[in-house]
Amino acid sequence: MATLWGGRFEKETAQAVYDFNASIRFDKRLLQQDIEGSIVHVRMLGKQGILTAQEAEQIEEALVQIAEDVQDGHLIVSESFEDVHSFVEATLIERIGDTGKKLHTGRSRNDQVALDMRLYTRKQVDETATALYELLQTLLSLMEEHKETVMPGFTHLQKAQPTTLAHHLGAYFEMFRRDRQRLHDIRERMNVCPLGSGALAGTTYPLDRDFTAKELGFAEPSRNSMDGVSDRDYLIEYLAALSIVMMHLSRFSEEIILWNSNEYRFVELDDSYSTGSSIMPQKKNPDIAELVRGKTGRVYGALMALLTTMKGLPLAYNKDMQEDKELAFDAMDTAKDCIHLFHGMLSTTTFRKDIMRKSASRGFTNATDAADYLVKKGVPFRDAHGIIGRIVLFCMEKDCSIDDLSIQELQRFSEAFADDVYEAISMETCVNERLTDGAPGKEAMEKEIAQCKAYLNET
Ligand code: ARG
Repeated sequence: MATLWGGRFEKETAQAVYDFNASIRFDKRLLQQDIEGSIVHVRMLGKQGILTAQEAEQIEEALVQIAEDVQDGHLIVSESFEDVHSFVEATLIERIGDTGKKLHTGRSRNDQVALDMRLYTRKQVDETATALYELLQTLLSLMEEHKETVMPGFTHLQKAQPTTLAHHLGAYFEMFRRDRQRLHDIRERMNVCPLGSGALAGTTYPLDRDFTAKELGFAEPSRNSMDGVSDRDYLIEYLAALSIVMMHLSRFSEEIILWNSNEYRFVELDDSYSTGSSIMPQKKNPDIAELVRGKTGRVYGALMALLTTMKGLPLAYNKDMQEDKELAFDAMDTAKDCIHLFHGMLSTTTFRKDIMRKSASRGFTNATDAADYLVKKGVPFRDAHGIIGRIVLFCMEKDCSIDDLSIQELQRFSEAFADDVYEAISMETCVNERLTDGAPGKEAMEKEIAQCKAYLNET
């Protein structure tokens, strides 16, 4: 048991209490941020004359060494300490003696942990944004490759109208673009420095909070010291953003799973991203997509847990807040792994253009276009809708598509049909006539792709 307190206690903490209270098991991953914050704090104490220049220098050097030693594996973080903060301070004192005891001047573990967690989360936000950027790059190149890959578009999971794979993937480009923009917004808002908030009411030492904020890459110090130590909004926002990323990945995974099924066969997953069955030799399973879909639950769980932890807390710091770490770390790790694994799976997937095209042409996806054809020949839309409906029924009985019927057969349903109908309802025409902005038609799609490319080049 190694604690930073004890002066006012007459009895030892019970071991079970100590263990229940301790956080080093999971907060040791904040070690580099803890030391980075302490270095800037001590530099500021030296600059302000609160410590002598020599003392500040000696502490800084020792902290740099501790960080290096842990990184190289020469120093092991001992879990007998209460938390990472106590471990660093105790190691410092062990190495440089009494001067080390001055590090914590004008600081509390409350503003210290608020800083460490914010620094750590900020780095995670940046890494998530980079991972999404890479995913967007892959999506863009797939869109360019598949501008003319015709596939059925669905509503109610029923074939609806023909579209292209580029258009379908383009929808995910937009989702992940928004996700990345959300991370950008969160980063701006969270980028304030809580260091100097003290336990809750600042300190009596003449700290230079602008200096520490700037040195640590923050836009400014937090404004209110009570809020500084008890704000976890930024973490909640990040978990919410991750939940949305996961929701998008999960929808996409669901489609990959469907498309990989024996019924669809739109995609062929690479062997390196699939798994087999222990009993059924024919199986090639989409486990990665299923795990991404499955892991979405634990990221949502982290968001709900933290919201619930925070909802009843009076100001300012309460130990409940220690609960922000394990679940947030788990959600961050999970989401990052999911983006990377999903990205790897997507970039190695083969899209079966022939099967997608055949599927599009076999599901009456050109029925709307056939009705529009009749409208252009002067038939009122409601009548055209009824005529095509009867033709679809007829085709279902014959097990064929509208364009398999001869012109004589078509004319039995309406005199308005002429030879140009086949061209008008071909898959290519159906797609390319869809020229409204945001539609799958070639020109509209090219415009959209150019816009996506410009976005990736600019940001
Ligand atoms: N392990 C604590 C946490 O994560 C550090 C802050 C402790 N502060 C305190 N007043 N006990 O929140």
